[in-house]
Amino acid sequence: MNITMAKVMLSTILVFLMQLTFAQQETTYLITDFDGGGILPNEWQSYGDLGSHGVVSAKPNSDGKFYEQIWNGKKDEGYIVSQSDITFRIIPKKKLKEKTITNVFLRMDINCGGAPGTKINIVLVDGPNDCCTNDVNWQYSFVKNTCEWETIEINLAEFGYAYDPNNHEKSIDITKVGRVKIGVDIFSGTERQIVQFDNVALVVKDKVEVTGYDDSTSIPENSRLKSTAKDFLVGIAVNPSRVQDTDYSALYTKEFNSVTAENAMKMRSIFKGIDEEGNLSLDWTNSDLIVDFAQANDMNIHGHTLVWHESTPDFLKTFEGTNQEFESIIEKYITAVVTRYKGKIDSWDVVNEAIADGTSDFRESVFLERMGTDYVKKCFQFARNADKEVKLFYNDYNLVFDSKKQKGAFAIVDDLINSSLIDGIGYQMHIDYNFPNKLALKTATDLIVDRKLLVHFSELDVKTNPKGSIKEFSEKRDMEQAQKVYEVVEVYNAIPNEYKYALTIWGLKDDDSWVTPRYGFPDWPLLFDSSFGKKKAYSAFIQALQN
Ligand code: G3I
Repeated sequence: MNITMAKVMLSTILVFLMQLTFAQQETTYLITDFDGGGILPNEWQSYGDLGSHGVVSAKPNSDGKFYEQIWNGKKDEGYIVSQSDITFRIIPKKKLKEKTITNVFLRMDINCGGAPGTKINIVLVDGPNDCCTNDVNWQYSFVKNTCEWETIEINLAEFGYAYDPNNHEKSIDITKVGRVKIGVDIFSGTERQIVQFDNVALVVKDKVEVTGYDDSTSIPENSRLKSTAKDFLVGIAVNPSRVQDTDYSALYTKEFNSVTAENAMKMRSIFKGIDEEGNLSLDWTNSDLIVDFAQANDMNIHGHTLVWHESTPDFLKTFEGTNQEFESIIEKYITAVVTRYKGKIDSWDVVNEAIADGTSDFRESVFLERMGTDYVKKCFQFARNADKEVKLFYNDYNLVFDSKKQKGAFAIVDDLINSSLIDGIGYQMHIDYNFPNKLALKTATDLIVDRKLLVHFSELDVKTNPKGSIKEFSEKRDMEQAQKVYEVVEVYNAIPNEYKYALTIWGLKDDDSWVTPRYGFPDWPLLFDSSFGKKKAYSAFIQALQN
C-alpha cells in the first residue's frame, strides 16, 4: 500500500469514527481538510472576474494545510472565489428526507491572515452553473476583523440571502437541492484582503437548539419589553407631540425605560441663530418637553445628537466669520446644551454619522471644513468639559456590514479612546428583514466589546419592503421581520453585562416611521402596527430574551 492509499484509508476511518462519536447528537461530513481527508480532498480551485489578482495557495498550518486567497486590491470591482472543483452530493438525499435545514450546519475554520477588515462571503449554489443564472446562490457575509483562526458554524437556515434578485424570495430546501457547491468570495476593495479556510464540514444535528422566533408559542399578556430585558435599557424614539398624546405616552411608559428624542434635540430644533456679539439664540421648548416627560416617568434619557451634518442650521452653513469663530460657536453650543441637561441626560451622541458611505473617509460637512479632521475629537472634548459624568457616544449606520465605513469609524473611535473621551458606540440598526445576518451582527458587536466600550443598538427598525416589491404586509414578511428582530436582540443580550447600555427602537408604530416617507415605498418597520397592536416582531423581542 502506498502512502496516498494509506492516507485515504486513514481519513475514511477518521470520518467514520467522527460520525460514530457524534452519533447521538450530530453527524459530521468532512468535506475537506486540505490535507487528504474528507469527501473532496484538495479538489478546490480559484476563479473569478479578476482571479489573477488573487494568489491562491495551500499552506501548512497546525493541522497540515489550509486554503488561502489573497485579494491584492488592485481593482475596484471583482471577486475571487474558491470553489470545489466538482459538484458533489454532500449528504445522500435519503438521509436528509426527514430533516429540515435547521438541522444542517456548515462548519469551517476561518482566518483573515493578517488582513483585518476582510469581507467574507460564503456561497451555497444549488444548480449546474457557477453563478446566478438558473441557480440559486445563497450567500452569507460577514467582516472578519480579528485575524485568528476560529471555528464558525452557520445554520443553513441562515443563508437565504440570494444574490439573484429573482430568487430573493426563495429559501433553501436542501432535500431538493441535493448538490451543493461551496465558495468563499472576497469582494475587492482598494485594500488587501485575505481569506484562509480549513476543515470544511457539514454537520447534521439530531437535536438542534432552536434559536429563532417561534410563532406557535405565545408570550404572556403581561410581558413588557422593559421588564423582560433585565440587563439593559429598552429605548424608544419619541417626539414632543407624541409624549403629550395619551395613546402614545401610555405605551411609552408601559414598555420602555429610556427615551431618545427623534428630532427635538438636534441642532436644527434647538439652535435658532447667532447675534452680532456671538451670543447664541437657543430654543429649548421641544427638548425640555421630552426631558420633563422622561423625568416625570422615571425614564433614562439618551441625547441625540449634538453634531450631525443633516441637522445643521442654514446660518451655520453660510456663516461668514473665521474658522476660529465658527469653532468657538460650536463649543458654546455644545457647552450650553450639555450643561442645561447635566444630571438629567445620561448619555449623548456627540457626533453622528461622520464617515461617508462605502469609504473610510470623513463625510463632507461644514464642521469638517471649518474645524478640520480633528473636529470630532474637539466636539467630544467640548462635551466632556461641560459634563464629566455624562456618557459620550459616537453613532453611525451601516457599521455592521460596510467594512470601509466600519474601519473609518473605528479609526475615529480608537483616537477618542486614546484621549479617554468616549464611553460607547451607537450602531444605528436601520436594517432589512433579511440583512445583515446574525454572524455579521455579532462580529461587528464584538469590535465594540473588544474595546471595552458600551454598546448602544441605537435606532432599530427592520425594513420589510426595502426594494418596494410588496404592496401589503404579508404573513411571511411579518415572520421574517420577527426572526431578524429575534437575532438582533439575541446578539445584544449576549454582550457581557458591563458593556450593555440600551437597545432603542426608532419609533412606536409602523405608520410613524421615517422609512416610508424617505424611501417612498410602503413599509412596516416597527414593533407595533398602526393601531398600536403588538406585531410578531414584538413577541420575538420578548422571546429572544426568554430563551
Ligand atoms: O416638523 C416638520 C413639519 O412641520 C413639516 O410639515 C414636515 C414637512 O416635511 O416636516 C417636519 O419635519 C420633519 C421631521 O422629520 C419631523 O417629522 C423633517 O422634514 C424630516 O426631515 C425629519 O426627518 C427626521 C430625520 O432624521 C431628519 O432629521 C426623521 O423624523 C428621523 O427619524 C430621522 O432620524 C435619523 C437619525 O436622527 C439619525 N440616523 C438616521 C435616522 C433616519 O434618517
